[in-house]
Amino acid sequence: MNKFYITTPIYYVNANPHIGHTYTTVAADVLARFHRMIGDKTFFLTGTDEHGAKIEEWAREAGVEPKQFTDGVSDKFKEAWQKLNISNDNFIRTTDENHKKAVQNALQHMYDRGDICEGKYEGLYCQGCEQFKNEKDLINGLCPDHKTEPTKLSEESYMFRLSKYQDILLKKIESDEYRIRPIERKNEIVSFLKNEKLQDVSFSRKNVKWGIPIPWDETHTTYVWADAFLNYLTGLGWDGLLNSPFQKGGKGDLDFWPPDLHLMSKDILRVHATIWPAMLLSLDLPLPKELFIHGFFLIDGQKMSKSLGNVISPKDLTDKYGVDGARYLLMSATSFGHDGDISWKWFDEKYNADLANGLGNLTARVSNLLEKNEIELGLRADSDSELMKSYSEAMSEYKLDEALKILWHELKKNDEVLTAKAPWKLTEKDEIKGVLEPIAQDILNISILLAPFMPAVSEKIVTQFSERQVKKGESLFPRI
Ligand code: MSP
Repeated sequence: MNKFYITTPIYYVNANPHIGHTYTTVAADVLARFHRMIGDKTFFLTGTDEHGAKIEEWAREAGVEPKQFTDGVSDKFKEAWQKLNISNDNFIRTTDENHKKAVQNALQHMYDRGDICEGKYEGLYCQGCEQFKNEKDLINGLCPDHKTEPTKLSEESYMFRLSKYQDILLKKIESDEYRIRPIERKNEIVSFLKNEKLQDVSFSRKNVKWGIPIPWDETHTTYVWADAFLNYLTGLGWDGLLNSPFQKGGKGDLDFWPPDLHLMSKDILRVHATIWPAMLLSLDLPLPKELFIHGFFLIDGQKMSKSLGNVISPKDLTDKYGVDGARYLLMSATSFGHDGDISWKWFDEKYNADLANGLGNLTARVSNLLEKNEIELGLRADSDSELMKSYSEAMSEYKLDEALKILWHELKKNDEVLTAKAPWKLTEKDEIKGVLEPIAQDILNISILLAPFMPAVSEKIVTQFSERQVKKGESLFPRI
């Protein structure tokens, strides 16, 4: 049996869940559900990233203690994912006690082997990214992602010897041992590693209180990214101790290590391609197999922002299109791995065309005719179909939007056959059945493959079309 371990980034709790986080999380859910469907032993991890200067400041501005603040926002993420039918196996919070302890154990190990050393950090820091910046990374002196001027830091710090790992990282990424996809993202990282010298990274902050204390010097807290990356291990129950964890019979779900897929967008690719694998090398742990970088969304051509008032929340989507409608629209919004521009107008049109008129209308027409003419079928799903093959191929290559197109192409073909053969004009029951049966069979096959994307709707249609006497069901997608 194959195993499949998939993760999303853990989200910062300075923002409520929005369509960007939702996109990654739904995509990860679709893949996790697909892998469970094909029989893989699957683990799906998501969660929240709760420490660091940025969160500390947000809590201060909200006038509450950081923990109280992060509890509130973390709950909003949990609720949003429950509402969207996200099937994560764990929800990791970096404020969890076992996570904190494991991070301390891991850092201690890296310190003991000489990969973390006392030093001084002098340079620029963007609090929005929680990342150290070079002049070269800036545009007109501003962080290109946050449009803010980074602060100058000059403080004692424990430094992680990232520079030591440059050559080995390049080798592992070039050879696909640590796979980065799509290929243009891999090329970008390879050229970065070839042309620029990796700097050691400050792994501790003296002036940030809201963080995990450095175990050998509690006047420092852990750099928030060093803390956050380890979630991928602690989310499986890892305790940070290196003598036992990967031996059989270890605690937790460590058999799932290494991750088969880390899903994220380009904003956090570089740190995932450098600091994270270097930490694992320092810990002597196997590297994840693949990073897949999906596209970044713009709304009507603009970046989402509170000040523009164009932030779309998952609730905005589910209120309007239903849970499965929202999941469908997100997954078909852009070619997976490429940036996309979305708008309410596009969502409305797509919903009406593909769901209300497409899937909804076809199942309603066929079930209605079967009931009216009292045609009994007793169908069983056919899992050897050509359809199954091309769909599975697309899914295995993470072409999620493509997999949906394959299903919708099939729906459309059936719709055309139904219209052309117009069984409502026929009088012989056998003839009517001859037209409807293959269409109903196709609807059943398609609905089964829809399950990773639209779990509830899929289940409804599958149940409806597996009955001996198919009956007209409730309307699945009311028109907008
Ligand atoms: N906390 C870090 C990640 C640590 S992982 C060890 C972080 N959090 S975040 O809340 O900013 O999430 C960034 C991720 O959210 C992106 O990589 C992407 O997965 C998702 N998205 C946020 N906005 C997005 C869009 N506008 N479009 C698509 N995905 C976006 O970075």
